[in-house]
Amino acid sequence: MTHIRKAVFPVAGMGTRFLPATKSIPKEMLTLIDRPLIQYAVDEAREAGIEEFIFVSAAGKGALEDYFDTAAALETRLEALGKTDALAALAPTRMPEGALTILRQAQPLGLGHAVRQAKNLIGDEAFAVILPDDVIKGERGALAQMVDAHRDVGGHMVATMDVSRADTSKYGVLDVENETGRLAHARGLVEKPRADLAPSTKAVIGRYILDSAILDRLDTLRPGAGGELQLTDAINADVASVGVTGFRFEGQRFDCGSVQGYVQATAAFAMDRADLCDDYQAFMNDHRRPLRLVA
Ligand code: G1P
Repeated sequence: MTHIRKAVFPVAGMGTRFLPATKSIPKEMLTLIDRPLIQYAVDEAREAGIEEFIFVSAAGKGALEDYFDTAAALETRLEALGKTDALAALAPTRMPEGALTILRQAQPLGLGHAVRQAKNLIGDEAFAVILPDDVIKGERGALAQMVDAHRDVGGHMVATMDVSRADTSKYGVLDVENETGRLAHARGLVEKPRADLAPSTKAVIGRYILDSAILDRLDTLRPGAGGELQLTDAINADVASVGVTGFRFEGQRFDCGSVQGYVQATAAFAMDRADLCDDYQAFMNDHRRPLRLVA
């Protein structure tokens, strides 16, 4: 049995990097092969033993909220037609009764503000946060790996990945005190530091296991990078009292909030599917961009 039962999914973001697609489609509903991004996040949470799913949503996200509803008319029709494969494809979209709670973040005040919305639902137990934009492909789900590691170390835990110094300004970055295997003990965290000011190149990726102390900390938070209430700042403020560990997960992370990361993820997942990979490979070989020789 896991000791982490609840996960918060901040899904209120506007997805401006994906306009115009996200004008009327929540970015979490963008489809990687045949499943929306949110399905990957929920599946990863399930694998980690999560039983309660808390979506922090916003206006205009109706398609995302409907996705985990029972589609009674559709299911009755598929049954009548004997389309068992299509019915089976809907299985991952079913949530046990009461397992999904959808909250609204009334104003886009940042990730820290989004997580704070779940305060009353979390109570005093450690919980997970999953950012569905960050899709992590691997043998074992990144959150399940973290839940195992967290059992031994406790405190706040953030997923980490080593990035190039030029990229530190896109991430929360750890100030690393010492590193043992996959674990990095942090003495601080900075949100989106300039390359020349970054304390390391160990970046935070969108998976967190947080002690419930973070919820009180979030109440006292002041705006940080970009004028937003940053989860990174709240975690940083808890370094001495709660302890913060970075966990270098096994797997490949794709930033599916960016067009480039999304295209790469599509290719990687297509290559991983036995029913798609040969066809996909052959197609890409035929469409390789001709080399342009510079005169
Ligand atoms: C958020 C966090 C940041 C983290 C990143 C991972 O930033 O604030 O610390 O490194 O997710 O994807 P965002 O990408 O939402 O700006």
